[in-house]
Amino acid sequence: MISKEIIEEIKRRNDIEDVISQYVALKRAGSNANGLCPFHSEKTPSFTVFKGTDSFYCFGCGAGGDVITFIMKVENLDYVGALEFLAKRAGITIPTDGYEAETGMRRTRVLEMNREAAKFFHSQLKNDKIALGYLSRRGLSGSVIKHFGLGFAPPGFGALTDHMHKLGYSDEELQTGFLAGKSQKTGRAYDYFRNRVIFPIINTAGEVIAFGGRVMDDSKPKYLNTSDTPAFKKSRNLFALNYAKNYCSEQMILCEGYMDVIALHAAGFQNAVATLGTALTPDQARLMKKYTKTVLISYDSDEAGQRAANKAFTLLGEAGLETRILRMNGAKDPDEYIQKFGKLAFQKVIDSSYTQFDYKFESILKKHDPETAEGRIKASDEAAEEISRVYSSVERDIYIKKASERLSISPDSLKRDVENKISRRKRSNAKEEKQKLIQSAQGYGDRVNPDKIKNLKAAAAEEVILGILLKYPEYSVRIRKGSFELQSENFVSEFSRRVFNAVMAAGDDFELGMLNSDFSEAEMARIIKMQIAREGLSNTDGVFSDSIAALKQAAKKADMSLEDIIKAKRSKQ
Ligand code: CTP
Ligand code: MN
Repeated sequence: MISKEIIEEIKRRNDIEDVISQYVALKRAGSNANGLCPFHSEKTPSFTVFKGTDSFYCFGCGAGGDVITFIMKVENLDYVGALEFLAKRAGITIPTDGYEAETGMRRTRVLEMNREAAKFFHSQLKNDKIALGYLSRRGLSGSVIKHFGLGFAPPGFGALTDHMHKLGYSDEELQTGFLAGKSQKTGRAYDYFRNRVIFPIINTAGEVIAFGGRVMDDSKPKYLNTSDTPAFKKSRNLFALNYAKNYCSEQMILCEGYMDVIALHAAGFQNAVATLGTALTPDQARLMKKYTKTVLISYDSDEAGQRAANKAFTLLGEAGLETRILRMNGAKDPDEYIQKFGKLAFQKVIDSSYTQFDYKFESILKKHDPETAEGRIKASDEAAEEISRVYSSVERDIYIKKASERLSISPDSLKRDVENKISRRKRSNAKEEKQKLIQSAQGYGDRVNPDKIKNLKAAAAEEVILGILLKYPEYSVRIRKGSFELQSENFVSEFSRRVFNAVMAAGDDFELGMLNSDFSEAEMARIIKMQIAREGLSNTDGVFSDSIAALKQAAKKADMSLEDIIKAKRSKQ
């Protein structure tokens, strides 16, 4: 591990407000500062930097943490990556000796290993007529193969493993890096990718972070992909972003498959990327937002692809990106489209890209015949529903005009329908919001602390106790010295107990950042919230001991079951 002293030093030399202000326009508000949250799209600032605790918290999306957490999220790095980033920013060198062995394998070692493996796969491809034949049948030229560093994993179980052993990589390292599986009988490493063409995945720093491997026939599974390793998180990376980042300042094309991206790049659309064998994630949407303004969704034409496109639409919109859909007739995916119709045809597809409304309106017209009165009524109602979900009023007006013309109805009445739907939804949203607030106050559906619901009073006391401990770590020393009677057994919920133990273990020099590696992001957000809630507290000693007493008292009461709570709630109504 990187030593506590170094982490301290890194944090001290990276003032949280300084760092964050490079990403967010901050406005001072007393001792704190506010701005628009970089992690979700918003129009009024709910993102706050707390100078006193060197932390940030977004009251809109719940993102929160210290300067390290911030960099992890905004730069898409893991904990150690964020430390390295901040160390570099402050001109600090992290001493490396000793900590590699302890953590099993470090990111840099995996990256070195991947680079060697990529070289090996690439060199194997040159010798393999079948694999070369396969790629050339799919339209890939030698220069494209080279550009993407494609490779071939030979059949058999030991080709790569043997080669990597010679370079000094151990079985365990190969297994951690997902280049090798582990034999159940002997525990030894064997090649994970066998008899497959290999697509290396390279990040924007030019590092080989993972591989995808495709069979050359119809056997299953069609693709194998590297799972998450110390150097790779598939939900946070995109295939070919290393190239696309230089061509996408206005638009980026998002595809489903590696082959789609390669075909597009080869045809001159070098702004194409793909997800890595999963549905688009919010992290990937944010990553795209760093590089582009508009995303052209170019998913497969089948139903699954179109469903995925609709989901991607929403996610990208939430990340603040403009979004359009590419529609390809006569081909199942962009790769096939380019092979069949060529690049000029694909450019036409881009030029006539659809907004989500255009797209939905077309399918509405397919369902309801606009030549009949009944069809027009139904289509206009569904169109109004769709338009009412569009955020921008300018955009809504455009669609109202379009739809009313097409359906030969009056734009004014369509507009009224849309507005009615909007205000109805607003009313029911407000109701729902309120219900949600009540429920969350009562601990319903609390995913961070699912035990909360069992004993609400105890959980409330726990939150006060932990808030104080988090804000004033010296209380942990006083607990240990016996000034307060509190042990981890007193805690009713598992989550609170974990937080308590972590703070107690750190003692006097506890820092929020020490929790980063043991608690998830959602948990960190909750922890920060507890800490912030105790800001400006007076008579801390009194509140602390009262809360301990309240906790012990509440813990004595039998746990309330979920049914009891719901019953109690019903009888109140
Ligand atoms: N994928 C995967 N595992 C599978 C199938 C698909 O990880 N068993 C991922 C791959 O990243 C693939 C993408 O999903 O590139 C899209 O799948 P698909 O459309 O089936 O593959 P293509 O990339 O179009 O591959 P090909 O044209 O070679 O069939
Ligand atoms: Mn395909």
